[in-house]
Amino acid sequence: RTLAGLRTKLLNWFDAHQRDLPWRRDAAGQLTAPRDAYRVWVSEVMLQQTTVAAVVPYFERFMAALPNVRALAEADEQRVLKLWEGLGYYRRARHLHAAAKELVANHLPTSEKGGADADHQLPDDPVVWESLPGVGRYILGAVLSQAFDRSLPIVEANSLRVLARIFGYRKDPREGEGKVWVWGAAEAVLPQKRAGDFNQSLMELGALICTPTAPACDTCPVSANCIANRDSLQDVIPPKKKP
Ligand code: ADE
Repeated sequence: RTLAGLRTKLLNWFDAHQRDLPWRRDAAGQLTAPRDAYRVWVSEVMLQQTTVAAVVPYFERFMAALPNVRALAEADEQRVLKLWEGLGYYRRARHLHAAAKELVANHLPTSEKGGADADHQLPDDPVVWESLPGVGRYILGAVLSQAFDRSLPIVEANSLRVLARIFGYRKDPREGEGKVWVWGAAEAVLPQKRAGDFNQSLMELGALICTPTAPACDTCPVSANCIANRDSLQDVIPPKKKP
């Protein structure tokens, strides 16, 4: 029931049960560690607004058309928006496009220095990423932890529910001091190694087991670590959103 035990159980569960999603593979379909930063980045921007199932076909189409950051930077805006059509939130696509231009102009290695793979060598510097349009704390942590194994936390709808239940947090983790609490919790549970997989294990557990209603606590790998499970509070943590 220790923090170390919680981390190990979540990572082992993720290894055994993670869904086979296209951004967990490289362009050739190989499972790589760490992952391709461009693929992680584009997928996470899409996933900020849309479910995994809905994103998959858009992601595949986008990658086929614009396979690396240079292709995206050099595409005209109409083409990018056309590829985004149906996902909505076009501002996100515009930000993605503008950020790709900025990365290519100032933060990619030259082909002499980076070799044939130069267009895939995105920077691993948090300061650079933070300066890009559309990159907030979520995208920063998602990209740097998954693609560069940096120990940075992320919080989204699924992981927020998992963390609130495990630690028995009764206030609303989506608002005010609750937001501060949940980012602190996400940071505190994060291991130094495999931070990207760990972050994803929280989201994956929330999507597959620790669902909003009727969570599958009987098959949950960390039910013994969970205060909501111990005290039968799954239905009231997190509190229902105010209408
Ligand atoms: N939701 C957002 N990002 C995700 C990821 N990388 N894996 C699973 N669900 C997610």
